[in-house]
Amino acid sequence: MEILIRSTPDDVAAQAADILAGYAQRGATLGLATGSTPLLTYRELIRRHANEGLSFAYCRAFLLDEYVGLPAAHPQSYAATIRREFTSHVDIPDAQVHSPRGDAPDPLAAALSYEALLAATTVDVQLLGIGGNGHIGFNEPSSSLSSLTRLKTLHPRTIEDNARFFGDEELVPTHVLTQGLGTISRASHLLLLATGESKADAVAAMAEGPLSAQCPASILQLHRHATVVLDEAAAARLRNAEYYRYADTHKPANQDY
Ligand code: F6R
Repeated sequence: MEILIRSTPDDVAAQAADILAGYAQRGATLGLATGSTPLLTYRELIRRHANEGLSFAYCRAFLLDEYVGLPAAHPQSYAATIRREFTSHVDIPDAQVHSPRGDAPDPLAAALSYEALLAATTVDVQLLGIGGNGHIGFNEPSSSLSSLTRLKTLHPRTIEDNARFFGDEELVPTHVLTQGLGTISRASHLLLLATGESKADAVAAMAEGPLSAQCPASILQLHRHATVVLDEAAAARLRNAEYYRYADTHKPANQDY
């Protein structure tokens, strides 16, 4: 796992956008995350699209997860959120942006069909945030480390964290469809971003704690190509932060992120 510590959330976004722009230029398959953390990165990619001609026209994109019961047109569905925050502002055609169907009459069948779609695809880079409880996607603590796309019950802490988007905790759906940890691990490159003090414990558990279903993000420890970009606040509880900074500035020649 390569851990890059940057000063501010804006610096995290600039670093993430540098990495993602390289993939976009190759027309890669992108795994996208929703939530607050990647918003600055999306804004920077949109800026590069508008000002520097960065194109996503040949990319495909796959979302990590979706709330059960919300149609794609619901403003808080992740399908609507990613269009509003990112894809409608760049040149990727809507038909090339995929997500699990949250309002499918049979959510289990919807999970299986999204997994089948992903099984026929190689996601070149998967963007990830991390929950305060260590989740990635909506793989809450206790998720099988080899899980596939499925129906999950949200942890009360996640419901509390996401109430800000719905205005009221009661309105947050209790169930989700999420790529599993095994599904996410098939992506060729995992790129996890975390900013703010509220993520510091989860980041330390992910990077320096044991590999454990109690911290689903710890599966990054098993991945061949995982990059973690943190601001100072999110990195605050890492025991080996000084080494990560040193390694970042003493990279072997010709090694890209
Ligand atoms: C979103 C997702 C979640 C979020 C995580 C962090 O698609 O899968 O794992 O990345 O809950 O959310 P924020 O960035 O809002 O703190």
